[in-house]
Amino acid sequence: MRMYDLIMKKRNGEELTTGEINFFVEGYTKGEIPDYQVSAFMMAIYFQKMNKRETADLTKAMVNSGEFIDLSAIEGTKVDKHSTGGVGDTTTLILGPIVAAAGVPVAKMSGRGLGHTGGTIDKLESFKGFSVEMPIEKFMQNVNEKKIAIGGQTANLAPADKKLYALRDVTATVDNMSLIASSIMSKKIASGADAIVLDVKTGSGAFMKKEDDSFALAQEMVDIGTHVGRNTIGVITDMDQPLGFAVGNALEVKEAIDTLKGEGPADLTELCLTLGSHMLVLAGKAKTAEEARTILEDIIKSGKGLAKLRELVEAQGGESAYVDDTSLFPTPSIIEPVLALKDGYIKEIKADDIGIAALVLGAGRETKESEIDLSVGIVLHKKIGDFVKKDEAIATIYANNAKKQKEAEKIILKAYNIVQEEVKAKSLIKGIVTKEGIKRF
Ligand code: URA
Ligand code: CA
Repeated sequence: MRMYDLIMKKRNGEELTTGEINFFVEGYTKGEIPDYQVSAFMMAIYFQKMNKRETADLTKAMVNSGEFIDLSAIEGTKVDKHSTGGVGDTTTLILGPIVAAAGVPVAKMSGRGLGHTGGTIDKLESFKGFSVEMPIEKFMQNVNEKKIAIGGQTANLAPADKKLYALRDVTATVDNMSLIASSIMSKKIASGADAIVLDVKTGSGAFMKKEDDSFALAQEMVDIGTHVGRNTIGVITDMDQPLGFAVGNALEVKEAIDTLKGEGPADLTELCLTLGSHMLVLAGKAKTAEEARTILEDIIKSGKGLAKLRELVEAQGGESAYVDDTSLFPTPSIIEPVLALKDGYIKEIKADDIGIAALVLGAGRETKESEIDLSVGIVLHKKIGDFVKKDEAIATIYANNAKKQKEAEKIILKAYNIVQEEVKAKSLIKGIVTKEGIKRF
């Protein structure tokens, strides 16, 4: 078999066999197939797409490219949560601690930022000393004792996805349904969770911009999960504007801390309670989503969620004093407001552009090798439906470079669409996909 022939076959819109998909995944993982051929192949898949069978085969091949994590040493039903990637999405930092505080083991494998979207590991590294590197035995022990541990995607967990994810990020081939579904599900399957809650984003800041595509992506992933015996549900949620107010690593961690104190943005709080409720139900800790929600609300009110974050940070080598004194987080040299150009209602905040503005400031990676500046980012002051007066601050930029600050300001001003007529606020939860079918709200 030759990679050249596989590229041509897909370029011409033909269906790949199981053997061909296995050949590609094995060859690429071993380093026998070069990045430039795989780049072309990804672009061919992007344009010609894969069917359900090819997507399932790609997922299985990626799972088999590395080790499985055996979580059977952890007591209880292990429920994992994964987001398809959004802007300003700090959910894991809140959800992990509150779900763990409810007694559900959280054995989380997280990723780094991809394109205009952020990643949990980068954010957590805002705590000085925090590390996701630890032997698997230590990871298990932490989950058993503290009910929570956050690991990186080790080189051995779906290594094919690790290589592909980094390559897709820099070749404009992320936003393909089959590639996203196989990427996410291969990691979730290999990392051993019994049940999976997927937060499938939809809108301008998501990889899937159209609601129907997001439902289809959720369905594809639920099908794959069900097929391999993992109870999987997908919640379709709005990403037509950034989640919460903060975008950028340390800024988002501070927002997570506020949310764990019960003082967070309404949308971020609502999303965490919704996803968390489903996790508690899947783990058998509550009979209904309503009952689960009450448990989680009490955990926030009593401070147990915040205490769990402190415990997590400490357990993984980070400075937990940051939780109580957020002035310890890295701060940049420039903090400047972005002023509205006119009076009106906020109709739209192009979330992907806000993500790009954060990327320009240094909060994300431009290439595989880019270093991240943890201190920079954006805090929005106005969200869709809000009224703003001319020269009122719609956002604040945190930067370490005046030129980049100016560039980000231009992007933010363009991302905001301000109109004269009143605008309704957006609904956050669009629907849910389970093995029983689709429910739209
Ligand atoms: N998140 C992933 O893990 N993979 C993708 O391809 C996109 C988002
Ligand atoms: Ca946020």
